[in-house]
Amino acid sequence: MTIHFKQHETFRDDYSFANSPECVARLPFPFPDDEYMYSMNLEPHVPVGDGALRAAFDIDEHYISECRDRAITLEKDPGMHYVAAPHMMEAQWDLLELIMESYARDYPEHFSLTRDGARWHWVNRLLGIDDTFTFGDTSTLPYEPMEYITRQAQGDWILQEERDAMLYWGAGIATQRADYSLRFNLGMSWNEFHGPVPLVKEIGMLDRALKFLLRLRVGHPVRRLNWSLTVNPRLEVSAESLPEWAPDRTIVTPENAGRLVYLRIELQPLHRLPRSNAIVFPVRTYLVSLEEIANNNPAWAKRMHRVLKTLKQDLVDYKGFTRYRDAAVAWLAQFDDGRNEEVAKAE
Ligand code: HEM
Repeated sequence: MTIHFKQHETFRDDYSFANSPECVARLPFPFPDDEYMYSMNLEPHVPVGDGALRAAFDIDEHYISECRDRAITLEKDPGMHYVAAPHMMEAQWDLLELIMESYARDYPEHFSLTRDGARWHWVNRLLGIDDTFTFGDTSTLPYEPMEYITRQAQGDWILQEERDAMLYWGAGIATQRADYSLRFNLGMSWNEFHGPVPLVKEIGMLDRALKFLLRLRVGHPVRRLNWSLTVNPRLEVSAESLPEWAPDRTIVTPENAGRLVYLRIELQPLHRLPRSNAIVFPVRTYLVSLEEIANNNPAWAKRMHRVLKTLKQDLVDYKGFTRYRDAAVAWLAQFDDGRNEEVAKAE
């Protein structure tokens, strides 16, 4: 399918970001039921349909604008949004290879990769990049391999090192992270960085998910979806910049919630990496306003009304929309006629 790439969208200041109807239709909608609770929602990452689940790493009409937003964020606060422990270099090269191979295979009209032994030639036509470098030799790239390739990729990327049946946070580029700190998490173990998440320990989910990931094999990726809400289409909502964006939570009303409140969908396709045995945890974020959802798929709006209305308060508080849950529910109520049959179509 041809993608019409938007050239100059902004995810800050005047927020000119908007989705085309085609882009809304291809979203991985995260609510299979009228109620939501955390679950072991891991499934094999195999291609499904021609939307967001078709490619190994999905790109859409926002690719160019999103790469620009990442560059702005990286330049604004050097050292805050990209961190890598020195011993993660092999995993960085693994990740560069995986992204280049996947993009070139899934989007041959936009990317190509040619190899002559360790000499690699990479062309990214969307960003006008044409580089030749030596695989394994960092001095032949303008940035470290992870930063180099993820500056050209949609979504955030975290590298996990496996040691003694435990995962540790080894590196990451995160310019779209939902209210956590990348620098704070560096070096933390699986249980430590999931520490703030409510209820997951009690239901035994974290232990089961870790056991599952430790068995992840090269070439057999898995995926899961997560979600949150944000006011305005703002990608950079890190813990560090909280004073810049958190006050927007107070301006949402039942009248403007459709325009101001964005569903933030996270598609997370996890891969084992071949040389380093690290695991990559990509977080591909999709922003869509409640209004865009309702205009394009009223059955999704109906379902979201039910999900938000019944969501446990612990999750509302953790996900950070305590201030405006009621306003969002009030706005969405107009799409819920109380009947059940249409909602089934939302899946
Ligand atoms: C190695 C891969 C993973 C990494 C690096 C990771 C990292 C994170 C981080 C940084 C958070 C936010 C914590 C905070 O508030 O400070 C989080 C939240 C969470 N994680 Fe993971 N995670 C991984 C895999 C998984 C898996 C496989 C599952 C479940 C099957 C899971 C379940 C959750 C849940 C339920 C939340 C709360 C999300 C929300 O309500 O918005 N994570 N994770």
